[in-house]
Amino acid sequence: MNPREPDMASFDPDALEPRQQYKLMSGTIIPRPIALVTTLAPDGVANAAPFSLFNMVGVDPPMLMFSLTPRAGEVKDTGRNIERLPEFVVHIVDEGVKEKMNICSADFPPGTSEIDFARLRTAPSVKVRPPRLVECPAQFECRLIDIIKVGRRPNHLVIGEVVMMHYREGIVDPAKFYVDAARLAPIGRLEGAGMYTRVTDRFQMGRPEIPGVPATSG
Ligand SMILES: Cc1cc2nc3c(=O)[nH]c(=O)nc-3n(C[C@H](O)[C@H](O)[C@H](O)COP(=O)(O)O)c2cc1C
Repeated sequence: MNPREPDMASFDPDALEPRQQYKLMSGTIIPRPIALVTTLAPDGVANAAPFSLFNMVGVDPPMLMFSLTPRAGEVKDTGRNIERLPEFVVHIVDEGVKEKMNICSADFPPGTSEIDFARLRTAPSVKVRPPRLVECPAQFECRLIDIIKVGRRPNHLVIGEVVMMHYREGIVDPAKFYVDAARLAPIGRLEGAGMYTRVTDRFQMGRPEIPGVPATSG
């Protein structure tokens, strides 16, 4: 063994229960951004739920993804709604809206609007039918690209194209497309039950300049 290698705790996921896998994965891949997603049920009732298995996929076009874990073997309402109406709005959550976001994570029966229960204010979207939540600092209207089923349970990986972007006044410099992280002020999920973080402790590190190696751009 390399004498400089630190002592490690190592795990073979095949020997772990899904719950143990979840604790290691969700406690390690931190912080995670939170998508508060609105969808529309066939009866016209708008649904909102938060998802932290969420990230950017790429651009041209702008694309994002979030992952739905099954609930008692069933697809959650957000997934069922998107399967029927392939449109949704992804909202970034800040401290002002965090309690309302949390209320939306409760297991309301289908047909109950978390949006009404949480007293979230809505506005019509421009290109999709589910409404926007106006209290959230950024709102991305999305059309479904694909739902990919992954894993044995399975998870539903929802991939969407961002077709319209809205920001609260003062967050984006429209000349430079610079997003002011301090003004966006998103919160993120950390390990365990109910742990969150702020984006208040930032530092800068440019891409490396290595002689003979082309400058990195992507
Ligand atoms: C901060 C936060 C993050 C969450 N992330 C996820 C997630 O990534 N995937 C998931 O399936 N559920 C996640 N949940 C739980 C869902 O929000 C919850 O199951 C919700 O009731 C689903 O609503 P729906 O049935 O209306 O779709 C999260 C909850 C909270 C509070």
